[in-house]
Amino acid sequence: MIGEKKVLFSGMQATGNLTLGNYLGALKNWVTLSDEYECFYSVVDMHSITVRQDPATLRKRARALLTLYIAAGLDPQKNCIYYQSHVSGHAELAWILNCFTYMGELNRMTQFKDKASKHADNINAGLFTYPVLMAADILLYQADVVPVGIDQMQHLELTRDIAQRFNAVYGDVFTVPQAYIGKSGAKIMSLQEPSKKMSKSDENPNGSIYLMDDPDTIRRKCKRAVTDSLGEIRYSEEQPGLHNLIDIYCACQNKTPDEVVKEFAGCGYGQFKEAVGEAVVAILEPLQKRVAELEKDKSYIDGIIKENAEKANYFAQKTLRKVQKKVGFPEKIR
Ligand code: TRP
Repeated sequence: MIGEKKVLFSGMQATGNLTLGNYLGALKNWVTLSDEYECFYSVVDMHSITVRQDPATLRKRARALLTLYIAAGLDPQKNCIYYQSHVSGHAELAWILNCFTYMGELNRMTQFKDKASKHADNINAGLFTYPVLMAADILLYQADVVPVGIDQMQHLELTRDIAQRFNAVYGDVFTVPQAYIGKSGAKIMSLQEPSKKMSKSDENPNGSIYLMDDPDTIRRKCKRAVTDSLGEIRYSEEQPGLHNLIDIYCACQNKTPDEVVKEFAGCGYGQFKEAVGEAVVAILEPLQKRVAELEKDKSYIDGIIKENAEKANYFAQKTLRKVQKKVGFPEKIR
């Protein structure tokens, strides 16, 4: 708890181009949580270097992501929006938690196995202990809830295990976090292969709508989206492509699938796809304008980066001092 509010932590990596899926599935929902929770939203740049990065590109993308958080509607006065690398407590706590995590546990992480097979030439120790850094992110702020997609559930489970293990030895040091399962955490699938999640790293650029795609590109990608030969607008698992387009339309327009099916009863797929394209443009075009405006105001963004890093650091240090004392590190002489 901070004051009256429960604490929420989440983060995103600034690698790859963010997609409509990242926005509708995560960012858009984050905005609705900031009244109820004390929120920490991090740009997790320390996680990014587990895979080799071009430094200039990483720096640019990290700033773009932080700007996007604000453009999407996260008020930086109310939400702590910051770079993970600006708060050294993440690394310090991660080291301690490494000593409370078993090799066997990390060996079981499916994302590690995945990434190790994709980056066989660079299976570094950071990639292996990635989930421990993530646990440190969460536990450092005593987070009660963590909004994550299903792909991160295994990491969150591990975080809970580490917290409970530590608490069992040293008393109630960490809040044991819970997954936040959003009401309408839309899971957006690829437009070309609707059985796969829409991804930043899709080889087929037509499968994903990128947040910075221009309106014509968005319309074209929607028009080309894979559907089926049944030719009827229904919300059914048998029509995964259409199902996904309905989900996208619903998330953009804040409607329910039932309403959408009624609205487009008797229409052809072409007409519906056009409407989806327009709905997406109506969401992304203003978002892009806000990003462009914010980017112009360098000193405003710099101010937020500085203030929020200080705020994050304050809470991080509180936890860290407690943990350091528990494990037996000598007190600093001031
Ligand atoms: N690993 C997460 C992802 O790739 C990002 C992340 C890092 C995160 N630390 C976190 C998410 C803490 C939630 C909480 O999506």
